Amino acid sequence: MIAKVRLGTFRCGAYRVTIGDSQPQDRLAVVRTVAGLRKAVASFRAVGRTIGLVPTMGALHEGHVSLVKGALARGDVPATSIFVNPTQFGPNEDFAAYPRDEAGDFAKLEAAGCRIVFAPDKDEMYPVPMLTTVKVTGVTEGLCGPFRPGHFDGVATVVTKLLMMAGPDRAYFGEKDFQQLQVIKTMVRDLAMPVEIVGMPTVREPDGLALSSRNRYLSTAERTAALHLHRQMTAVAGAVRDGRDSCSAATAAAARALLEAGFDKVEYLTVVDAESLRPLERVASPARVIVAARLGRTRLIDNIAVG
Ligand code: PAF
Repeated sequence: MIAKVRLGTFRCGAYRVTIGDSQPQDRLAVVRTVAGLRKAVASFRAVGRTIGLVPTMGALHEGHVSLVKGALARGDVPATSIFVNPTQFGPNEDFAAYPRDEAGDFAKLEAAGCRIVFAPDKDEMYPVPMLTTVKVTGVTEGLCGPFRPGHFDGVATVVTKLLMMAGPDRAYFGEKDFQQLQVIKTMVRDLAMPVEIVGMPTVREPDGLALSSRNRYLSTAERTAALHLHRQMTAVAGAVRDGRDSCSAATAAAARALLEAGFDKVEYLTVVDAESLRPLERVASPARVIVAARLGRTRLIDNIAVG
């Protein structure tokens, strides 16, 4: 339970947090407001530090922790945002059920060396009805685009807001959401936003399953079936890398194998150019095998490099 205080130190579950201090903190400072975030960022800038923003929707796992560590490795002060953004969920998606564990998230961030966590409520992020949307075309049109109408508008708009609020030097995103990463890189390039976007490698379980906040929806049987995703992507990458197979033949065989392994639906499984995300038939440029498939009520996405 979060105390309704704006300033001071209090307990959140078993965890002690500080709010609204204007001195640079040597431990995690929790800020709830845009003003508090800017003050915390300014306190580090005043002593010559750079800021690395890690935007998240919470329910943090080792993949998120690797982004915080990536920021630390580049010398940035890590600042994480936690906000389950309603505008990127469709009407039949899992916004209400999306896992939330604020106290657990704060503990993981503190242990990872994060120094600022921005955890606003909906009224702080969207105080008035939004009349502005950031829309990226091209890279949003294939893959998840047709299956999640409006999703990337919601992502691009909230990420723009977070970048404007925090003003970081760098922002860190996982390659697990490869299309999202390309959307954000494209947006930052097109709008000349003064921030460097850093893509970080996907963190996987030992059996290959990519870490995701949504993995906790999987039953035991679904968890077993889920590891076929990485296996099939690897098979496709091997087949198309040396030209043994065309991309369409390799992905069709892999999609059939996923359905046989227990997946309910393969929304797409394709080989795309790593920058434009256009489908390829033969691999000549840097390419990704990329997939979205449904297992029970869980939609899993993943991708790997072909090379
Ligand atoms: O990847 C996510 O968790 C979200 O899409 C993001 C980038 C935090 C925007 O809400």
